[in-house]
Amino acid sequence: MRVLSGIQPSGSLHIGNYFGMMRRMIAYQEEHELYCFIVNLHAMTTVSNAKELREGTIAAATDFLALGLDPEKAIFWVQSDVPEVTELTWILSNVTPMGLLQRCHSYKDKIARGLSPNHGLFAYPVLMAADILLYQSEIIPVGKDQKQHVEVARDIAIKFNQTYGETFVIPEPEIEDEVAVVPGIDGQKMSKSYDNTIEIFADEESVRQKVMGIVTDSRPIDEKKDPEADNLFLLYKLFAAPEDAASLADRYRTGGVRYSEVKKELFSLIIDYFGPYRRKRAQLAKDPSVVREILRRGAERARERAAPTIEKVRERVGIKY
Ligand code: ADP
Ligand code: TRP
Repeated sequence: MRVLSGIQPSGSLHIGNYFGMMRRMIAYQEEHELYCFIVNLHAMTTVSNAKELREGTIAAATDFLALGLDPEKAIFWVQSDVPEVTELTWILSNVTPMGLLQRCHSYKDKIARGLSPNHGLFAYPVLMAADILLYQSEIIPVGKDQKQHVEVARDIAIKFNQTYGETFVIPEPEIEDEVAVVPGIDGQKMSKSYDNTIEIFADEESVRQKVMGIVTDSRPIDEKKDPEADNLFLLYKLFAAPEDAASLADRYRTGGVRYSEVKKELFSLIIDYFGPYRRKRAQLAKDPSVVREILRRGAERARERAAPTIEKVRERVGIKY
């Protein structure tokens, strides 16, 4: 199967991104044809500082590589290094009904949160459709929030195929139900927009502060508690061995859990878990030219894969004259 997904290089990647998306993506490289990319063009809808975008792009790529993405197994690149995707965006715009975009929750939410509604934000799903269709992708693993965008890509592909003849594979979203939402330190969904994240590669001291700052309730220690309703437990469960999580869950249910002790344990679990990745990241960060070379080669391969599709599209719509 051809699997494709991208992540925005805006803000530092956090453990919600890791358990919700990155770990799953990286695992696909073993058995599938994996296309994984850093969507810097999409990030322009929220980042308007060039330095921030540049540095965020390299940082996100370095994070992915440190966490185990293998550029020999997967095709890994930066979105804007394949300019055909912006050409395809324009072409697809002409088979995209306004109403389809007007219905997108993500657009409506961003407007509701005060982002000014410019054309880039509105057309965001068309660029995402171009990302998906350019590589004839079959499976698109995304979080729940992105499901509608994949459905938009499907609708656009169907409309294009009806108008110009069979051209695109119709992609399927893949939403992993078991990947529950990772809670942030305040108990809401962990998200860079809520300032409640634990960053994967933050230094130890700031991880300690974040973990010690996890919001807990003030019920007495001996009171019986539901572990699944406690964000500290939910975070602990992500890192602990299953038997340790089960035994802590029992202690919650019988009473007697001291949150400060769980936090200390969680802190060391996080540090241990990401230790090897942290070392790999430090090594990669020493020589950014290695990461750049990986991305250059990845873009070259991505362009090769995109070439037959864009050629066919140019012919079908009549811009190849
Ligand atoms: P953020 O909410 O920090 O802006 P993004 O929306 O950029 O994160 O998400 C990038 C990827 O990480 C998406 O696939 C999304 O589903 C996943 N993701 C983000 N936050 C979480 C979370 N708290 N729990 C699970 N998955 C998450
Ligand atoms: N919009 C996605 C997000 O914010 C990122 C993305 C861009 C993407 N293009 C994609 C995901 C293509 C899957 C396929 O998470």
